[in-house]
Amino acid sequence: MIIPLDNDKGMGYNGDMMWNNLLLPDKSYYQDDAVIIYHADCREILPLLPDKSIDLVLTDPPYGINYQSNHRSTKFEKIYGDLEYPTEWLSLVNRLIDKGTIYLFCNEASLDEAKLLLHQNKWSSNRLLIWDKQSTSGGNLDNYASRTEFILYGTKMFAPKLNGSRDGNLISIPRVRPQDLQHPNEKPYLLMAYLIMKSTNPNEIVLDCFMGVGASVKASRDLGRKCIGIEIGEKYCRIAADRCRQMVFDLKV
Ligand SMILES: C[S@@+](CC[C@H](N)C(=O)[O-])C[C@H]1O[C@@H](n2cnc3c(N)ncnc32)[C@H](O)[C@@H]1O
Repeated sequence: MIIPLDNDKGMGYNGDMMWNNLLLPDKSYYQDDAVIIYHADCREILPLLPDKSIDLVLTDPPYGINYQSNHRSTKFEKIYGDLEYPTEWLSLVNRLIDKGTIYLFCNEASLDEAKLLLHQNKWSSNRLLIWDKQSTSGGNLDNYASRTEFILYGTKMFAPKLNGSRDGNLISIPRVRPQDLQHPNEKPYLLMAYLIMKSTNPNEIVLDCFMGVGASVKASRDLGRKCIGIEIGEKYCRIAADRCRQMVFDLKV
């Protein structure tokens, strides 16, 4: 008898396994005690995660702008799913989070859609955080050069207390230097670490459904949190897994 490779739970699904007291699909690309990475479309994995298992959603979906970087001799490939702003995923996340926080990255082009998406899924949008990249990126030379992107800070049910001091909504952290980029939309490790530190406590679970090269998973791990990362690009999963194999970065926070 030929056993089909895929079933109603998706390609490569071998059953479930326990990870940090959660019953998760056993088809991970990489896992250790703090991080689990799925190489998949997040819409395939999210329905398989347990109810109320997530404390923080920290994620950076494609902005829906069909972005192509022109600043390198070897250009990055276009981002998967960047033709239109992705929306289906958040309704799949709702079941996973009871009361908690979301940080949703966006830019000028996707801000309205990102706000609408939160609203439609009954998340409150509490504050618009402005990430000052400390330097400008390319674009139309006849326009003002942009040095900011946005992060919508939202909560469900009630707003969990933020850790540390009461900070302003302007976050000034340098972007990844062009020569160091491994992903065209890579976010800095320190930015992810800052947001994780503000909104989680040790051992809480972070979810990044559009993980890219994994600053979120690496920072979660270094901060003593747990993280589930999902990414459709195999190359990016490989880079994220390699980062997780490196020594723990001792973040003094
Ligand atoms: C804006 S980038 C995230 C970059 C990431 N923050 C980083 O620092 O590397 C969005 C990522 O989502 C991935 N992606 C797009 N659609 C996806 C989907 N349906 N499921 C999982 N990953 C997806 C893309 O391959 C891309 O790497």
